[in-house]
Amino acid sequence: MMRRRVLITGASAGIGVALARVYAEKGWDLILTARREAAMQALAAEIRAAHGVDAAVIAADLSEEDAPERLIEEIAARGLTVDGLINNAGFSRTTGFLATEPQAHAAMIRVMLSAPVALSRLVLPGMVERGFGRVINVASLAGQMPATGGDTLYGPIKSFLIKASQGLWLETRGTGVHVTALCPGYTLTEFHDVNGSREQVSSAYPAWMWQTADHVARVAHDSCEADRPRVTPGLANNVLAALGKLLPDDVALRIVAGHARRLGRI
Ligand SMILES: NC(=O)c1ccc[n+]([C@@H]2O[C@H](COP(=O)([O-])OP(=O)(O)OC[C@H]3O[C@@H](n4cnc5c(N)ncnc54)[C@H](OP(=O)(O)O)[C@@H]3O)[C@@H](O)[C@H]2O)c1
Repeated sequence: MMRRRVLITGASAGIGVALARVYAEKGWDLILTARREAAMQALAAEIRAAHGVDAAVIAADLSEEDAPERLIEEIAARGLTVDGLINNAGFSRTTGFLATEPQAHAAMIRVMLSAPVALSRLVLPGMVERGFGRVINVASLAGQMPATGGDTLYGPIKSFLIKASQGLWLETRGTGVHVTALCPGYTLTEFHDVNGSREQVSSAYPAWMWQTADHVARVAHDSCEADRPRVTPGLANNVLAALGKLLPDDVALRIVAGHARRLGRI
């Protein structure tokens, strides 16, 4: 059987690590990328031993402007083909738009928006030509809400990823390429440690609202295989997503404001 290889960004922690394990379990070879090389080398060794697949590691900082191009060049130089792309690297900033340095905003946009666009554009022509491809853009439930108070750019960036994925899904229909926007709700990873809100989110939201990264990764894999353009894991998250769509904006905004206040973000 022909072996497939998936490039996973943000593969040193959280959902990216879970996705790497799930894809390896399904027989895919991997290319892992993030900044922390040691964590990825340890994961690659674990995965090779557990599943007998190949796992390449390429350290990259996606906040650097030409990082996507350099990453794809390095992959080509190693003679590897990208059959699957998972744009997962990301973080949030809860310090407020005005209190955040412009360079930090630019870095967030590069990692979470420009890099997924650039990487998709670089690998999709080859996928279409070969008649097979998988692209997952890790968006968020937040992208289905009218706003993300105190983390002003996060929601719009994730909304962009959802819309762009749906557009690509339409554009690549019938080519053998599947494109899926994954919209997780609260997921147990390093995410809320990185943005410094672990204590607030743990006390504000009950255990049942939290999903494991493994569950989210399995939903992502299965939904992309099923060629679903968007998936939100979990019933509660789907109810919230539906409310975000159905409620008038001013009502939804007031609910979002209550959420942001509870977390001390506005
Ligand atoms: N956890 C949640 O509740 C939740 C909910 C909805 C959506 N999401 C989304 O899920 C995705 C994964 O997040 P997670 O929860 O797994 O968070 P996480 O545990 O903090 O992992 C984030 C990953 O992104 C990588 N990353 C961050 N900045 C990077 C940069 N400049 N260059 C390259 N890689 C970078 C990190 O690697 P290095 O630090 O090694 O570079 C890490 O591997 C994100 O897009 C996030 O927005 C998370």
